[in-house]
Amino acid sequence: MSKKTVLTGITTSGTPHIGNYLGAIKPAIEASENPNFNSFFFLADYHALIKCHDPERVARSTREIAATWLALGLDTDKATFYRQTDIREIPELTWILTCQTSKGLMNRAHAYKAATDANRDAGSEDLDDGVTMGLFSYPILMAADILMFNADIIPVGKDQIQHIEMARDVAGRFNHVYEPLFTLPEALVDEETQLIPGLDGRKMSKSYDNTIPLFCSSDELRSLINKIKTDLREPGEPKDPDTSTLFQLYSLFANEIERGELRLQYEEGIAWGDAKRELFEFLDAKLSAPRRRYNELMNDMGYVEEVLHKGAEKARAHAAPLLEKVRIAAGIRPLTYVANASTGQDEKKKEKSAEELARIEEGKRRAILKQVQHLIDRVVNADDKGSVAAAVVEEKSAEVEQLKKKAKQKAQNELDLLKEELAGYL
Ligand code: TRP
Repeated sequence: MSKKTVLTGITTSGTPHIGNYLGAIKPAIEASENPNFNSFFFLADYHALIKCHDPERVARSTREIAATWLALGLDTDKATFYRQTDIREIPELTWILTCQTSKGLMNRAHAYKAATDANRDAGSEDLDDGVTMGLFSYPILMAADILMFNADIIPVGKDQIQHIEMARDVAGRFNHVYEPLFTLPEALVDEETQLIPGLDGRKMSKSYDNTIPLFCSSDELRSLINKIKTDLREPGEPKDPDTSTLFQLYSLFANEIERGELRLQYEEGIAWGDAKRELFEFLDAKLSAPRRRYNELMNDMGYVEEVLHKGAEKARAHAAPLLEKVRIAAGIRPLTYVANASTGQDEKKKEKSAEELARIEEGKRRAILKQVQHLIDRVVNADDKGSVAAAVVEEKSAEVEQLKKKAKQKAQNELDLLKEELAGYL
């Protein structure tokens, strides 16, 4: 079985917290130790520029996030670990993909819609007030991150699923218009890690200001844990572990036995003060070795920089040849370029597995269907579906007849799929 490629990035606009660790970094490091995967992990610093315009903070966050992955034991011989801005191919691919992305698709992106909705709610006349082109085209940059390495699996939080779907759409469109060069990626969402509670019991998130920095000092860790919300139950009164943030955080780091033992203490009425101390001591013990390593790395940025450079070289060894193919496919070629028959499409197809071919076909199908979706909608919304379906097919056939050879093939594909989709009505 050929190896699957797992890829994920973290935006460098904040200090890594326990939620980032449990939700993204820990599962990613585990995946990188699985020999069935190739893994690509990166610092999404181009993405940071979209939402954070404080240069000191972007630079600090980039150092912190780089040191965090390494302190947690990421083996950079196994995984490819790099900084997005070191891969020059990514912005170039972003542009080529931008030219294949319909504006309408971007209009529907959650981050952009949230911004326009907020303007509408605030009664602003300009719905695009404060929206940069970076924010608007954010999903295309993310698609380039993913497609650049033909990644199969993208572990992300729920809020990112739409971006992966958009990356699929963009890849499908490119594959259809030019050549099937891109793998269609899939999002992988771990339900359990979606539920990491912060100090106030809501999901741990920078935007709620309820995070626990992963490598804060012992003293800070103690004082943050002391701030975690509890209910008013007295010492001796049984407590419900399943609704307790303290218990949930402990559980996420504990094994089965440790979890069971603490559950018993809750049922026996542990005092909240003691529950806090238990959590502090447990986390502090777990984090002390990687914290020490983190602090060493934060004082040795030359080393971290070197690791990132090596990672970038490894990453570019994948990115550069693929970008070259993309450029050629799109017509950006040396003036002396002559197509080499032996690198024709048929041969490339032979090298791909049946599964890959099926995925590429599915992507093409989706891209074609998009072109004729308005016709399908017309039929589905009509009273007399049968005759509207017949009329639609008739119109498309007439169009096919009139076209020149290349355009004709494209329209013929659309007609074939249209007939297939409308078969029930015809
Ligand atoms: N946008 C992602 C986030 O904010 C970070 C990211 C950038 C990413 N590029 C990516 C995640 C590619 C996965 C794959 O969480």
